[in-house]
Amino acid sequence: MATSCSLLSLTSAGALAPAAFCQGVRLRPRAGRQCTPPHANRLHSSGSSFCAAFSLPLSRRDDVTVMSATADGAAPQPRKGAKGHIDETLLTPRFYTTNFDEMERLFNEELNPHLKQEEFVAMLQEMAADYNQRHFVRGAEFRSAAEKLQGATRKFFVEFLERSCTAEFSGFLLFKELGRRLKKTNPVIAEIFTLMSRDEARHAGFLNKALTDFDLSLDLGFLTKNRKYTFFKPKYILYATYLSEKIGYWRYITIYRFLKDHPDRVLYPIFGKFEAWCQDENRHGDFLAAVLKSTPQDLKDWRAKLWSRFFCLTVYVTMYLNDVSRTTFYESIGLNTKQYDMHVIIETNKTAARLFPAVLDVENPKFQAGLDRLCDLNTRLKAAQKSGDPKWLRNLKLVPVVAGIAAEILGLYMMPAVEAGSTDIAPFEPQLMY
Ligand SMILES: [Fe+2]
Ligand SMILES: [Fe+2]
Repeated sequence: MATSCSLLSLTSAGALAPAAFCQGVRLRPRAGRQCTPPHANRLHSSGSSFCAAFSLPLSRRDDVTVMSATADGAAPQPRKGAKGHIDETLLTPRFYTTNFDEMERLFNEELNPHLKQEEFVAMLQEMAADYNQRHFVRGAEFRSAAEKLQGATRKFFVEFLERSCTAEFSGFLLFKELGRRLKKTNPVIAEIFTLMSRDEARHAGFLNKALTDFDLSLDLGFLTKNRKYTFFKPKYILYATYLSEKIGYWRYITIYRFLKDHPDRVLYPIFGKFEAWCQDENRHGDFLAAVLKSTPQDLKDWRAKLWSRFFCLTVYVTMYLNDVSRTTFYESIGLNTKQYDMHVIIETNKTAARLFPAVLDVENPKFQAGLDRLCDLNTRLKAAQKSGDPKWLRNLKLVPVVAGIAAEILGLYMMPAVEAGSTDIAPFEPQLMY
């Protein structure tokens, strides 16, 4: 999940802050923006593993800064020894907020005749079975493996764990709040969200525990209260979280399968947990697909086609840029980063094509060529931002780079789309699926 800088405002599937965290907080709208009630009274965030959305086209988005207050007015501090900040870039997993009243209307059976309640009941039974209840268990081998990782590899492992933890936690926050808010409107849906938040809390907690093997940890409570939240309409949250869960599934399972065939490259035992772990993400994705099918208007017309392609593009671009700039991590476990990413993109795209009315032509070689040019531009962008030039000169140098990035993204978006999609709801199949 989870997912600031300059051009792209890429996010990760969302999260909401539980009510307990909302007490004593002040929401500060970004200059010129209004934080409209009821959102101003509640923390929301979305943010999951790998999903993203560009900032410009979304119609009702408010960036809000959430500030916690202490009794004596002092600046809040993370707990001792834990990290209370995340290096924010455009590609960092974010926390999101949404319109919960609209969500309640969406899940109200009286107002939404498209809800297939029997299907949701079957999904609830599946999640309540809690197959991974005893899965996330650590052994002494975690710490000893971490101690062997040094230098750049160690640095990139820590970054991987931090980013993953943030994204998973973001999902926890969103699902937890949805579970709480929907209890009266639709108890079945509410319970599913609550069980999904259970899974994400487990994932985030396991990753945060892994960070302690590297003598680090994130103060997630502190981040909840002090990190900036971004608003997205429910419809966009649903597109984004669905893709986020599915791409998360393909990322985890691809690494797991590769390392199963190359056991000598398992530098840290967390990868051995990915097979059952990614089934949680797959179940979450299937549920969100069923939710999207409950709003068939969002899957049928020309607008749905444009939004589907838009969200696919933002998610794929975010992942590609992020991973290529951290290629040391993937190479350390024996993966070819670009090959790995393209595999994940192609498989996610195939999965999304079963739901979305249009997807991108990611198997066209021009698609990856465009992604590669974006990586080069991203490298130039970072170099220009880090340069010691005076601000005016730096900004001047950034103009052609930013224009180049915008042109490349537009070019990818305008590539002929692949018609896809179905609004038929397939029978829910609880068995493992790859
Ligand atoms: Fe997760
Ligand atoms: Fe998930």
